[in-house]
Amino acid sequence: MLTLLVLVLSFLAGLTHGAPAPVLERAVIVGGKEAPANKWPWQVSLRVHREFWMHFCGGSLVHPQWVLTAGHCVGPNIVNPSVLRVQLREQHLYYHDQLLPISRIIVHPNFYAAESGADIALLELQEPVNTSSHVQLISLPPASQTFSPGMSCWVTGWGDVNNGESLPPPFPLKQVKVPIVENSLCDNNYHTGLQTGDNVHIIHDDMMCAGNTHKDSCQGDSGGPLVCRVNGTWMQAGVVSWGDGCAQPNRPGIYTRVTSYLDWIYLYVPKEF
Ligand code: ARG
Repeated sequence: MLTLLVLVLSFLAGLTHGAPAPVLERAVIVGGKEAPANKWPWQVSLRVHREFWMHFCGGSLVHPQWVLTAGHCVGPNIVNPSVLRVQLREQHLYYHDQLLPISRIIVHPNFYAAESGADIALLELQEPVNTSSHVQLISLPPASQTFSPGMSCWVTGWGDVNNGESLPPPFPLKQVKVPIVENSLCDNNYHTGLQTGDNVHIIHDDMMCAGNTHKDSCQGDSGGPLVCRVNGTWMQAGVVSWGDGCAQPNRPGIYTRVTSYLDWIYLYVPKEF
């Protein structure tokens, strides 16, 4: 309640400053900077009504009528779609809201908790959106696509800029380039400092890892896209899912591996449109 009050107050404080001034290097998602206005046109913000339509998760536009997000953003207990809204790509959260209603929330049937996997969900918009210079779809990868260390991958969102430190007004969309961490290495990393047996996998095959102690996604980025550039085309490799804190040693950010869920996604999202 207190944090919400602080959020509302800092939000109002931000608004009284009028149009947000362009920011060249606003510190730190964790370790990143403000996204250029023409980048990440598939990024969306999920909203729930509190004192205002508050951002609670990210998402990505994968079809004119479908948003991909994390299961834990909208599940496992599904709320009525009427209590949520989608805001398409916005440079500063809340400043030019045009909230879109949704007609359906589909959480993966195997989703129970982020740590156990299948942390993926789809939202159907009531109406298809028109794409434009600043609103575009992100391509889903082919099933055979792999994402390996050394690829150029980025995560974007309006989440916390550090552990327990929320994004300050004027809430610019942030981006950070994150190194992919191969699953077995990430699993080893996560076992350090834990009693969990080495034979017990913490990082499942339907997850992938990215980030380091300087660069990571964080609370509020969940559901948002991890995208990689493959031969000049941006593809969504992951969905922000979970982590042990943010940008902590031996604790890369964990993402739902999109290629593990293509068949499920295509049960709902038309391939041709
Ligand atoms: N579960 C968080 C959320 O709901 C995302 C955490 C991502 N953590 C990380 N270290 N990358 O927003």
